Amino acid sequence: MRKKIVVVQGHPDPAPERLCRGLAEAYAHGAEKGGHEVRRIDVAALDFPMLRSQAQFERGALPPAIAEAQDTLRWADHWVLVYPIWLGDAPALFKGFIEQTFRPGFALRYRDGRIPQGLLRGKSARVIVTMGMPSLVYRFFFFAHGLRNLKRNVLNYAGVAPVRTTLIGSAKGMQRDVAEKWLSDAEALGREAR
Ligand SMILES: Cc1cc2nc3c(=O)[nH]c(=O)nc-3n(C[C@H](O)[C@H](O)[C@H](O)COP(=O)(O)O)c2cc1C
Repeated sequence: MRKKIVVVQGHPDPAPERLCRGLAEAYAHGAEKGGHEVRRIDVAALDFPMLRSQAQFERGALPPAIAEAQDTLRWADHWVLVYPIWLGDAPALFKGFIEQTFRPGFALRYRDGRIPQGLLRGKSARVIVTMGMPSLVYRFFFFAHGLRNLKRNVLNYAGVAPVRTTLIGSAKGMQRDVAEKWLSDAEALGREAR
């Protein structure tokens, strides 16, 4: 089935040699070859401030770049989020993007002013994360905390499910042939829109 896919590049560094950029593009190319419709969001290229108060979160004007990103995310059936681990979690710029984007009215609506309802039901996601440490260390020593939070507290809570994950360890200065294997895996996932 032809799907509408958005690939969100969450690496703050615009340098094309970053592995995250290669993975996001490989996924997007695979998806296009598989006949899916693909749009891209490059967080590093967006102009938005960090959120600083609950009032801003609830009632602040949406920065135009965030409003546009929300429209693209609403449009898509399947989200692909790609980012590196920085100090155990997603980079601050990516988290700032998520805070700005997941405003009330986009991700959640409150029934009777209290009971949250996810507004993003029917969408699925793939989160691709790179890290310097071996991925087994992140998974079993650090319990993949930041990733679990994104998956359960942010995405599942808003109704996005299933959320599948790809963890790529030992990614700092990765050898070319190993990187090529991950890029072709990402392309295969894209073809299948998984
Ligand atoms: C500011 C910063 C903090 C980092 N912190 C971690 C960390 O806590 N754990 C880890 O395994 N790797 C850490 N790394 C390494 C990156 O995760 C790794 O270089 C990246 O995933 C490689 O992908 P890239 O080429 O797309 O940047 C850090 C890198 C930077 C620049």
